[in-house]
Formats: sequence, structure tokens, C-alpha cells
Amino acid sequence: MGSEEMTLPPFGQEMREKEFCMRKGSMFLNHGSFGTVPKRVKDIQKRYIDKMDDHPDDWFRRNNLGKWKEGRDAIAAFVNADSEDVVLVQNATTGVNTVLKSINFKENDAILATDNTYPAIQFTCEHAKAANSGSQYYKMDINYPIISEDDVVEQYRQFLSSHPHVRLAVIDHITSSTAVVMPIKKIIKLCREHDVMSMIDGAHAPGQVPIDLKDLDPDFYTGNLHKWAYTPRGCALLYVRREHHAWIRPLVTSWYYLKEFTMEFFMQGTRDDCAYVTVTDALKFYEDLGGMTAITGYNSSLLDLVTDRMVTEWGTGKLPIPRDMEAPCMKMIRLPHMDLYDVTTAEAYRLMDDLFYEHDIQVQIFCVLDNLYVRLSANVYNHTEEYSLFINLIRDVSLNKRPMCLKRKSEKSPGNSDMPFSEK
Ligand SMILES: Cc1ncc(COP(=O)(O)O)c(C=O)c1O
Repeated sequence: MGSEEMTLPPFGQEMREKEFCMRKGSMFLNHGSFGTVPKRVKDIQKRYIDKMDDHPDDWFRRNNLGKWKEGRDAIAAFVNADSEDVVLVQNATTGVNTVLKSINFKENDAILATDNTYPAIQFTCEHAKAANSGSQYYKMDINYPIISEDDVVEQYRQFLSSHPHVRLAVIDHITSSTAVVMPIKKIIKLCREHDVMSMIDGAHAPGQVPIDLKDLDPDFYTGNLHKWAYTPRGCALLYVRREHHAWIRPLVTSWYYLKEFTMEFFMQGTRDDCAYVTVTDALKFYEDLGGMTAITGYNSSLLDLVTDRMVTEWGTGKLPIPRDMEAPCMKMIRLPHMDLYDVTTAEAYRLMDDLFYEHDIQVQIFCVLDNLYVRLSANVYNHTEEYSLFINLIRDVSLNKRPMCLKRKSEKSPGNSDMPFSEK
């Protein structure tokens, strides 16, 4: 649908106004959590939805499969995999669940994740252990500071050497709460040497870092397209190494049960999969912006500029990781002490709410390494002034020069409230 020539505005404010949907005035500095759908892609998605409603039978019986295959092929090409090894799923959570729920873990078999693993995925691991009697679940703590990639690889090496029953390792490509790009190629190789299957959680990776699945050669890889590759939500890929096709089952059993690996994931009941058929258009938008070089080049330069300013103005620092392990479009900066906020996850969430309700600033705050850190995202619609407002506000609040809240009451949290989305 989207074959017309695109003329696109320059990155920054104009790009945001013309091509994105966020409401005027909001400082949206958290692309990482849920992504945002560009207007053009959303318009195309709506056209597909209209087409589906023009004649539902025509869509589901005659058009849907061809479009679904186009989407799958486009994603496969984007991550350099064969189409036969790639299926579309709704999100990374579904991708990991699909794999973990397909495995029969035997007595003593263990799953390995880390303390940096995304919480919903940690729960998925816990569930797999609960559902497979006698199996184990290990959560390895990632040591900080990280001096080099090899530090992390060595940690995995030691863990796998001393835990011979690990059967599957869930490994983040880019961690959520710390925005670290993990050396997955080396870890995948290490896993294979220890006869451990690797399940890569690339929720943040497609569009943000290069992915070459033929080169990486994991057992399983899932990654969202709806975060950094501009597709509508929910759209993700699940790659499964050929040798596992026979026993990986989709979460929803439907028409193509046991027919053929990729087809089994098609038509999982009647539902709206227009996000999948919009993939080619979203990837065209991505390429028309200049592709990875232009997009991540802009985003990382913008973030470098503003994070340098933060570190100076706040007198703090970045997460202690090497430069080559920093995600290009997400950076972690320690917040200065603020009398108003304790260092807990509940307080991080209250601070996020205060910033949102009082100042219309959306950032992601995490409680890591005994500090509050902001995870800042940048995308082609962001520009320096948005970050400046945030930098100045935090500086002034930390120096007690101005209050955080004028409009609403913000009270310290009891300390252990259950707020799962704070860790998105
Ligand atoms: C590392 C990681 N894994 C999994 C997810 C879940 O993604 P989704 O909610 O799209 O399933 C996220 C979400 O941010 C994430 O950061």
C-alpha cells in the first residue's frame, strides 16, 4: 500500500509535528517502553482495517495469507534470516512464552535468566519452573561496573560451568532496566559449547541495533518491531532454529496444527492482524528516514549531547558500562539526590507520575545499583529543548530551588506497592 514516494521533514520538532501523533506540548522522552506509530504507517494500517471491513470474507479467505507472508518475509530479510525460520507474534512477551511453554523441562533441568531480565519474562521463567515439576530456575546477578563485554561473557562462562543442568538461557539483547547491549554473539557461542539452548529476548533490538541471525545463530530470537522499527503494535518476530521447528508450538492452537512450522502461527482464530501486514510499509518508512545509520546516528548524538549536560548540571554520572555496550537510542543517567524521593521502585514510579502530571514530561525511571536512574530515549522526533526542560527541573528540585508539584499532592510511597509497569 505504501509505495508512494515519501518526502520527509528534517529530524526533530518538524518531524514530530508532521509525522508523529503525540499530543502537542508533551515531552515524550520514553520511546523505549511502548514505541510510537508514525502517522503514515497508522494511516496505512487504517486502510487495511477498512479493507478488512469492506468485505470480511474476501479479506480472511483471499487476502490475509498473502499479506501475512509479505510481512513475515520482510521481517526475515530485515534480520537476515530465512523466511521458513521466522514467524510473526504479537510481542516479545509472546515470543518468549511460546518457546518456554513448548519445552518439557525434565527433573533438574534449569532455566537461566538474570536480575536484569525484564520482569514479565522473569515471571514467564517462574511459570515454566512451576509447570515442570522438578525443574529449576536460576537468576544470575549481572555484576556492575561492567568494564568490557568479556566481563559479562566470563560471568556466563563461570555460571554455566558450575551449573551443568542449565538447559535454556534467556538472554537480553538490550536490557530493559539498564539499557545495556549484551554481547549476545559470544554468549550464544558459549551456550552452545555448554549444550545450552539460547533464547534471545530482543524486545528493544530490531531497528536500534543491527541483527544478523545467520551470523548470530541463536536457538531462538524474539524482537519487537513495534518499538524501534515503526510498526503498529503488536508486531514481533520469533526466529526458531530449524532443528527445533518440529516441537515449537504456538500458544494458540488453530487451523494449521502440525501442518508446517510457519503456517501454524498463521490465522490463530479470527483477529485483527493488520499490524503484521503493515510491516513492509513501516520498514519502508524506516529506510526512507535514512535507515539505521541516519536514525541511530541522530538519536545517539542527541543523547550524547544531553547526557553530557545532565552529568555536568546534576553532578552525577552514567551507568558504569563501556561505551560499546550502551544502547544507541537509550541511555542511563543517575539522578541527583532529591529530598522528596527515596531510592525505591515505588518512589521511582511516583517521580515518573509527578513529572507526567505536573510537567507533562514522560521519562522512564528505574531504581538500580542503589540509585534512581533515568532511562532516556531518543527518536527522530525528539530535540534538545525537550531534554533541557527536564534537566533544569531536576537540577532545581534537587537544589530545593523550586517544588516539583504545584497542582497535586505527591506523597511518599509506603515502600512496597505492587506496580508492575514501573519496570517497563
Ligand atoms: C527486554 C524486554 N523484554 C520483553 C519486553 C516486553 O515487550 P512487549 O511488552 O512488547 O511484549 C520488554 C518491554 O519493554 C523488554 O524491555
